[in-house]
Amino acid sequence: MPKNAVEIEKMRVACRLAAEVLDVVTPQVKAGVSTRALNDICLAAMVERGCTSATLGYRGYPRETCISVNDVVCHGIPSEGEILKDGDILNIDVTVIKDGFYGDTSRMFTVGSVSDAARQLIKATYDGMMAGIATVKSGSRLHEIGTAIEQVVAPRRYGIVREYCGHGVGKKFHEDPMVLHYANNEFANVSLRKGLTFTIEPMVNTGSWRTRLEDDGWTVRTADKSLSAQFEHTVLVTEDGVEILTRSPAYGDKLPVLAGG
Ligand code: MF3
Ligand code: CO
Ligand code: CO
Repeated sequence: MPKNAVEIEKMRVACRLAAEVLDVVTPQVKAGVSTRALNDICLAAMVERGCTSATLGYRGYPRETCISVNDVVCHGIPSEGEILKDGDILNIDVTVIKDGFYGDTSRMFTVGSVSDAARQLIKATYDGMMAGIATVKSGSRLHEIGTAIEQVVAPRRYGIVREYCGHGVGKKFHEDPMVLHYANNEFANVSLRKGLTFTIEPMVNTGSWRTRLEDDGWTVRTADKSLSAQFEHTVLVTEDGVEILTRSPAYGDKLPVLAGG
């Protein structure tokens, strides 16, 4: 359901706060830090901004963020025992609630010097997300998003995760539509309308797209232990295009993780 002007303004606020939380944690991602410590930095940033975590208690999820390291695809649970080391890649996924509205965004981070393979995966995943976003405007078709992502990612023979997808977001964490990140013809008749807000959040693996759920019921890993990357933006469909609601206030499109070296 498209949102009205008042709701859209609340979405802008929630989404900006979520992006700010990721900006705050960015300089703290380094070797020797636990994923729990990063979670707690995000939590403090949420409290300072007068918003709350959407993930804590969501279907029993135990933390305020998801932090997914190396072969973890998504929904990694931050833990004191998980200490970052040189060469790790990770995704931090922050969803906040402000004034009843949800803002959902995630980014990749690297620790020290990472392999070229990891860096290329991260770049391709970001480029894929941005290509998917670029298809969005009033009247565009939902399935163009996945097709655009696949066009960027497929030449590298990466696997695009199929079991987890983007989603409408607003007064609820997950609502319609379901946004697939691979080339597909589903919902081929669904066209986007001005005022819709949803996420685009491709998960891309250096190996197979297949995943495995750990016994903790949350942690999703690549089935073949290959590396996985993800970026996530919440976007708004506008008359002639798209507004990225979770663009980083500090870095814009120039995220440190995308800088070479
Ligand atoms: N933020 C995730 C998403 O992008 C959902 C996390 S749900 C949790 O949809 F329970 F794992 F936190
Ligand atoms: Co999401
Ligand atoms: Co998310």
